[in-house]
Amino acid sequence: MINLGVLVSGNGTNLQVIIDSIEAKRLDARIRIVISNNPNAYATTRAKKHHIPAFIIQDNKFSNREACDKHLLDILQSHSIDLVVLAGFTRLLTPLFIKSFPMKILNIHPALLPAFPGLHVQKKAVDYGVKFSGCTVHIVDEGIDTGPIIIQAVVPVHTDDTEETLAQRILKQEHRIYPQAIQFFAEGRIEVKGRKVIVKDQPEIAGVLENPQVEIFK
Ligand code: GRF
Repeated sequence: MINLGVLVSGNGTNLQVIIDSIEAKRLDARIRIVISNNPNAYATTRAKKHHIPAFIIQDNKFSNREACDKHLLDILQSHSIDLVVLAGFTRLLTPLFIKSFPMKILNIHPALLPAFPGLHVQKKAVDYGVKFSGCTVHIVDEGIDTGPIIIQAVVPVHTDDTEETLAQRILKQEHRIYPQAIQFFAEGRIEVKGRKVIVKDQPEIAGVLENPQVEIFK
């Protein structure tokens, strides 16, 4: 059983599937604390509904971002957090914070990294005309969406997709891969070698995806 600290900023659907996965005993963890940098985040209401302590910590209440992160760290460390889970957390963490939880901060990103890091990435994928996009769970390092990749899920991009329709399709897959990545961590099955993450006792997957379909080879 590992102790999670979940950082949120918004609706919190990823937080919700983590809570639900724990309650369904698919995920061997407990959420000790939820922290939001946005006082209006619905995610904190979700936490409270499940009797999980939720705090608001806004960086504009501190003299600088380091001071804010120091406060965040104090709270997380006082709750014996093993893994920090960023679930739609929109603020960049300082190197001080990242160094304090080495290889123990996860993030979910709604694109197939390293394509489309940063913000508004579903729109960028639609506008670029890629045929596939998806989502990525990665370990957080000091770059923007650059850390070692644990798991990715791929979805097709349809010709009539909008930012919203693609975001919905990707979000459904986020809700599958994020609890799974946390469970890999809880089971001690994640080994990091440089940029590469090895998930122990997992077969390599076979097969190929194409969009549109190849028709001339049967
Ligand atoms: C998700 O698309 C996630 O990939 C991104 O922010 C969104 C958060 O959604 N980092 P929610 O707050 O979990 O519903």
